[in-house]
Amino acid sequence: MALKAYGREVDPWVITRAIASFERTLISGNSRYDQWAFQGDIYALSPQAIRGLNLFQSDRLGCTSCHGGFLFTDQSFANNGLYEDYTDPGRYRLTGKESDRAVFKVPQFAQRGGDGSLYA
Ligand code: HEC
Repeated sequence: MALKAYGREVDPWVITRAIASFERTLISGNSRYDQWAFQGDIYALSPQAIRGLNLFQSDRLGCTSCHGGFLFTDQSFANNGLYEDYTDPGRYRLTGKESDRAVFKVPQFAQRGGDGSLYA
């Protein structure tokens, strides 16, 4: 299959491309949040969920300063302050730069919905 799809035997290059191709198929796009925000269904979210969304988007919590936009990520890397001591060195592992210690990619919430995750 690797030969057919990528013109070469299985190797790290093929494996990383195959995983990326698979992950690109995972976006649900039809969660209740999507129905409410993009498909005009004003009943898709409960009043309670809308209150939570408003709180999430408020200046008071500031979540959208990192989790903003369509995918709920600004695609940056950040330390979200979860721990005082991080066993996972985060981006430092890749860059070796001390300023990247305990810094992680701000994740998207695109896989929202269908499985009890955010705004399902
Ligand atoms: C300074 C930027 C920043 C802010 C502000 C922020 N986050 Fe995050 N968030 C992150 C990062 C970075 C991660 C990934 C952490 C990791 O991989 O250990 C994360 C992870 C998450 C996750 C886990 C997502 C997943 O797929 O595993 C959730 C849920 C989340 N944040 C919700 C929130 C909420 C709710 C708020 C507001 C109260 C908030 N975040 C504020 C940067 C931020």
